[in-house]
Amino acid sequence: MSQPQIKPVTGALYSRIHGVGGYRPVRVIPNSEVLNWIDSSDEWIRTRSGIAERRWAGPEESVAEMSVQAAGKAIAHAGISPDQIGGVIVATVSHLKQTPAIATEIAERLGCGTAPAFDISAACAGFGYGLGLADGMIRGGSAEYVLVIGVERLSDLTDQSDRSTAFIFGDGAGAAIVGPSDTPGIGKVIWGSDGSQKDVISQTQAWDTAFGKADAVNGVGEAHEDGRGKWPALRMEGQSVFRWAVWEMAKVAQQALDAAGITADQLGAFIPHQANMRITDAMIKALKLPESVPVARDITETGNTSAASIPLAMERMLESGEARSGDLALIIGFGAGLVYAAAVVTLP
Ligand SMILES: CC(C)(COP(=O)(O)OP(=O)(O)OC[C@H]1O[C@@H](n2cnc3c(N)ncnc32)[C@H](O)[C@@H]1OP(=O)(O)O)[C@@H](O)C(=O)NCCC(=O)NCCS
Repeated sequence: MSQPQIKPVTGALYSRIHGVGGYRPVRVIPNSEVLNWIDSSDEWIRTRSGIAERRWAGPEESVAEMSVQAAGKAIAHAGISPDQIGGVIVATVSHLKQTPAIATEIAERLGCGTAPAFDISAACAGFGYGLGLADGMIRGGSAEYVLVIGVERLSDLTDQSDRSTAFIFGDGAGAAIVGPSDTPGIGKVIWGSDGSQKDVISQTQAWDTAFGKADAVNGVGEAHEDGRGKWPALRMEGQSVFRWAVWEMAKVAQQALDAAGITADQLGAFIPHQANMRITDAMIKALKLPESVPVARDITETGNTSAASIPLAMERMLESGEARSGDLALIIGFGAGLVYAAAVVTLP
């Protein structure tokens, strides 16, 4: 008897982004407020980072709540119903509960039935990683529509006394619905990692070191004289990140263009991770991006929201009319890991 064959699975030929949506917390923190915590100046922060203000989430604006708000807008924009979603991917590094994944609660609240739902930790490349996974799921036949969310409450992991990070981070959520397409709408995702630079951006200490395993077991987190018990925060070697982003990420962005068979002058938008305006400007130069290509500069009002920054910036460019539906956009995310992901996408 011949070996039985597993039934082949076929998915859509291509995928594209069908809708995008964002949520920005209500509370605005202008640079003037940051100056209450660190010795700095509005001018220094603006010229070194491009940031004028950021949003910080309040107690009601949880990771789940911001995600549900952003996803609701993306679902409406895509014109689908939540029960058509066959996968929910949440990219975040600031959901502070180790388990369960926040994605299941979000899927349930949105009405996504029994869709598989999981979190991924890929920092500022999280949205690009999610997009790569969603594209594979749709073309591989395991889902028709996939919801990709990038969401952060980085204020929970910000040390307000750290001059190198206190002014950078913000909170928010961005979401995209990825689904089938007759024509290619997501170019090859160029993604990767470099674990040799894992310490360049990282949490100051793990939860067990911070509180001590014995304390954790007893459910208490007392301060220890040796510094344990201090709430972990994000720490960054600013200049190393800056150099890596400027030199290496422009090459990755160019690879994404080449893989998609698109030249810089054919782009309708450049939407890099909103890490730092000077990094964006250096990339524009390295890519020889024509002045006619609109560039996302959402960082000025939003700060660096890690996984949320690209979909938030994308939504803003579409809403303001800076970019149009059907335009080609180059997106690139990069950050802690170190990790990166870039692709050319058709805007929804
Ligand atoms: C964080 C960053 C803005 C700091 O700028 P920098 O030029 O590297 O700053 P340095 O630490 O070398 O310090 C340079 C000077 O600015 C001062 N300085 C540092 N932080 C400051 C602050 N918050 N306000 C005012 N002055 C500050 C330093 O004291 C130093 O002064 P000196 O020259 O008199 O000694 C910069 O490294 C950067 O943009 N890195 C990339 C960060 C990023 O994008 N991260 C996101 C990754 S996803």
